[in-house]
Amino acid sequence: MQNFEYCNKTKIIFGKETENRVGSEINAVLNEKQKDKRILLHHSGGSAVKSGLIERIKGYLKAENIEWAELTGVQPNPLLSLVKKGVEIAKNEKLEMVLAVGGGSVIDSAKAIAAGALDDGDIWDFFERKRTPQESLPIGTILTIPAAGSESSTSCVITNEEGPWKRGMHSPFNRPVFSILNPELTYTLPPYQTACGITDMMAHIMERYFTRELNVDVTDELCEGTLRAIIKNAKIIFNGGENNYAARAEIMWAGAIAHNGFLDTGRIGDWASHALDHELSALFDIAHGAGLAIIFPAWMRYIVSVCESDNAVMERLARFAEKVWGVNIGDNKNAALEGITLMEDFFKSMSMPVRFSDTNIDPARIPEMAKRVVHFGQIGNFRKLGENDAEAIYRLAAR
Ligand code: NZQ
Ligand code: ZN
Repeated sequence: MQNFEYCNKTKIIFGKETENRVGSEINAVLNEKQKDKRILLHHSGGSAVKSGLIERIKGYLKAENIEWAELTGVQPNPLLSLVKKGVEIAKNEKLEMVLAVGGGSVIDSAKAIAAGALDDGDIWDFFERKRTPQESLPIGTILTIPAAGSESSTSCVITNEEGPWKRGMHSPFNRPVFSILNPELTYTLPPYQTACGITDMMAHIMERYFTRELNVDVTDELCEGTLRAIIKNAKIIFNGGENNYAARAEIMWAGAIAHNGFLDTGRIGDWASHALDHELSALFDIAHGAGLAIIFPAWMRYIVSVCESDNAVMERLARFAEKVWGVNIGDNKNAALEGITLMEDFFKSMSMPVRFSDTNIDPARIPEMAKRVVHFGQIGNFRKLGENDAEAIYRLAAR
C-alpha cells in the first residue's frame, strides 16, 4: 500500500427534504452576523425549474436573508464560455459563494466559476495544467443526479468550445463545503440519465480498482462491495422501482463514495477510460456515462489481449469477474472475458450504448481521437497506453 493523505472537507447532508437546510448551511459558511450576503445561484434552467425545486430554494434563501445573482444555461458537458460569464458576474457583484443546483455539469461549472472569481489570469490555464488555483469561493451543492460524484470530488471538467477540448482540473479547492443529497429529487430522472449516472459511478470505482498496487485489501473489498450494491439497486430501479426511495438512496450514496477519493487511498488508479471518453464527449457531445459504457469494455478487452502473459493483470481481471459478476471459471483469461461480457450485458439492460454504431460517433475520426487523447503524454497506469493503443481501443469500440 502507498503512503497517502486523505482529507475531505465536504459536509454531506443526506436524506428526505434536506434541501430545506440550504439557507442555514450557507449562513454557517458565510458567518451568521454578516449583512448583505450575496451568492451566485447556478443551475441549468431545466428540470430543477420544472420540478419547482429552484422556486423552493429561493424561498429558503429569502428566509435566511441571503441574496443572489442567478446564472442559468449550464448544459451537459459544461462550456467555458458560460464559466467566463459566471466569473464576470461573481467579480462585478462581489459574490461570496456559489450554490450549484443540478448534476455534475452544473457543479463543475460552479467550481470553475468559484476558482476564476478569485483569479486574475486566464481560467483555461488551470485545465491546460499551466497553473493551479490558489484559492476559491466556497461552493455548496444540491445534487439532482447521482453520477459524476462532483458533489464531493476534487475534480472539475469543462469543455472549451474553441478546440473543442474537454479537460479536467484537479484541486482541493474544488471540494464543495457542503452537498445536499436528497434521493427523492432523483425520481424525475429519465431512465437514460439514471443509466448514464450508474455507468459513470461504476467506472469511477473500476478506474480505481484496476491497479498494480498490492496489499490494498480494504479498498479492493470496498470497491467490489460498492459495485455489487450499485448493480443490485440499479436492477431494482430498472424493474419498476423508479420511485423506490431505498434503491435511489443507495445509488445516490454510492455515486458520492465512488468518487470522493476514499477508494483511492493507498493505490494508484488507471483513468485511461475516462481520458478516452473525454474525446467522445468533446467531439460528438456524447453523455459521459454513455461514452464510458462503450469505452470501458473495449479497454478491458484490449488489456486482456495485450497482457495475456502478465499474471498480475489477468488475476485482477479474473478477480473482478468473480467478485463483482459472480463468474466461476478456473482459467483467468476466460473468466476475465466472461466478466466483461456480463458487464456489457448489464449496460445494455439499462439501454446504454456499447458500440460507436449505437451512437453518432464517426469511426473515420478514430486516428484524430487517438492523437488528441495523448495530448499530455501516455494515458493509464494499469497499463501505460500511447496513441497506437488508444487507436486499437477505439477500433474495438467501433467493431
Ligand atoms: O439540465 P437539466 O434539465 O436538469 O437536465 C439534466 C441533464 O440533461 C438531467 N437531470 C439532472 N438532474 C435531473 C435531470 N433530469 C430530470 N430530473 C433530475 N433530477 O440530466 C442530464 C445530465 O446532467 P449532467 O449534470 O450533465 O450529468 P452528470 O452528473 O453525469 O455530469 C456530467 C458531467 O460531469 C463530468 C462529466 O465529464 C460531464 O461533463 N464529470 C465530472 C467529474 C467530477 N467533477 O468529479 C467526474 C466525472 O468523471 C465526470 O467527468
Ligand atoms: Zn466519470
